[in-house]
Amino acid sequence: MRTLSIIEPDPERDELLAKATVAVKSALPAANSDSERPAFHFHTPANWMNDPNGPIFYKGRYHVFYQFNPYGDAWGNMHWGHGVSRDLVDWEHWPIAVWPSKAKGEEHVYSGSTFRDNDGNPLIFYTSIGKARDPEQWMAIPKDDDLRAFAKPSANPILTLALHGGDSIHEWRDPFLFREGRETYMVVGGGRGNRGVVLLYQATDPGLSVWKYRGVLFEHPDVGLRSAECPNLVRLGDRWLLLTSTHGKIESFVGMLDLDRGIFTAQNRGILVDGAYASQIVADARGAPILLAWFQPPHAPGWAGCLGLPSRLKLGSDGNPICEPLAELSRLREKSVRLRGQALSGALDLSDRLPTGDGLELALKLEPGTAASAGVRLRVAPDGTRGAEIRYDFRTRTLHTPGRAPTVLPPSPDNASLTLRLFLDKTVVDLYAAGGTVSQMAAIRDARPEDRGIQVFAEGGEARLASLEMHRLRPARFVNAF
Ligand code: FRU
Repeated sequence: MRTLSIIEPDPERDELLAKATVAVKSALPAANSDSERPAFHFHTPANWMNDPNGPIFYKGRYHVFYQFNPYGDAWGNMHWGHGVSRDLVDWEHWPIAVWPSKAKGEEHVYSGSTFRDNDGNPLIFYTSIGKARDPEQWMAIPKDDDLRAFAKPSANPILTLALHGGDSIHEWRDPFLFREGRETYMVVGGGRGNRGVVLLYQATDPGLSVWKYRGVLFEHPDVGLRSAECPNLVRLGDRWLLLTSTHGKIESFVGMLDLDRGIFTAQNRGILVDGAYASQIVADARGAPILLAWFQPPHAPGWAGCLGLPSRLKLGSDGNPICEPLAELSRLREKSVRLRGQALSGALDLSDRLPTGDGLELALKLEPGTAASAGVRLRVAPDGTRGAEIRYDFRTRTLHTPGRAPTVLPPSPDNASLTLRLFLDKTVVDLYAAGGTVSQMAAIRDARPEDRGIQVFAEGGEARLASLEMHRLRPARFVNAF
């Protein structure tokens, strides 16, 4: 790692981080006492989190930073928390990485990304929010090779609104960097008039601290949006995938990127994950993209927020992106049952075959027969009632998930069957339907602790449970090392 001569002692940093750490520790008992807190979804040691920030695989470890309020379980006082993992399954909580430098006028450190400079050294880029000034883009640099502590160089701010000349941009935030050829680019989300926009910049120095504005790369097609948040732009096969967070969802646009003209042209528009927000993409050891995003389950005092399960991101044969749960999640499996070729009419209770309760993975294939609909019920009451229902209507090919808009699935290659893979973690459901072409996150809002039954069901006739695999999952390991 290069010698970071610009790093000076920062007594304010040490003092602020010590104070924040005390606040987090004092909230641990409350957070840990909630038996409905997700157990294998990444979450804070205690208190509030929202977006994942700047995930990077570096020297054998994933570093996943996140929007963190160390002082409470509601949004505020934005810092970057720091989770570290070898496999994105089990975790260590490390010290807070980025903090608002009050002496330099910062109130919040908002979302952003990590990017390696030409020498391979990771740098953090984020949006700095001040009390009495416009947003600015800032950078932070690691003080050590483990990425345990960071410093802010004197080059900050590295981008200001003044770069745009006459272009009036609001909600300007969430820098994301990528390299193409020998050039390094940054996209930042924002709003112009009543349109969400993604803006393009190009680095003009190897230290990535001087940038020129290239213009509006992409205008969101919907009129009346305040902004397009958290843009991510990556090459996927021979196309480019642009993600933005809008309408409470992660939206995807697949298309062509013309960096000479600074224009992204979308060919396909879709919803990548309905229910999750503020995506980030991390490249694994081989460079393959993994999606991370924020989800907000119901919560108790002492904590709020988690990440959705990490998903592999691919391009499907129809040119739309596909999400698949990360294979490493199978490390959570403890005990499994399998069923095959079974007629299904009414409800089939799975709870006594594999008592799982509230931590499980389920993969099934349902074929229609005479049934009008079929699906799964989670967190069913001991008397067989209640439960959150995920229902598929065979005739209209529509999937109904609690809290999500009804979604029409693409036709399945064989006779209208439904393939569904889902993970239940207390009140959180990650759902991948039709081979990952549809991906959703849902919250179960009214389950009682004793509601732990699981059913598959068919209604309006008989369906066929072609196959079912159910795995009881253990909690992920979270070690507090901060
Ligand atoms: C998205 C977002 C980002 C912003 C951050 C602030 O959830 O609004 O645009 O940087 O959260 O916490």
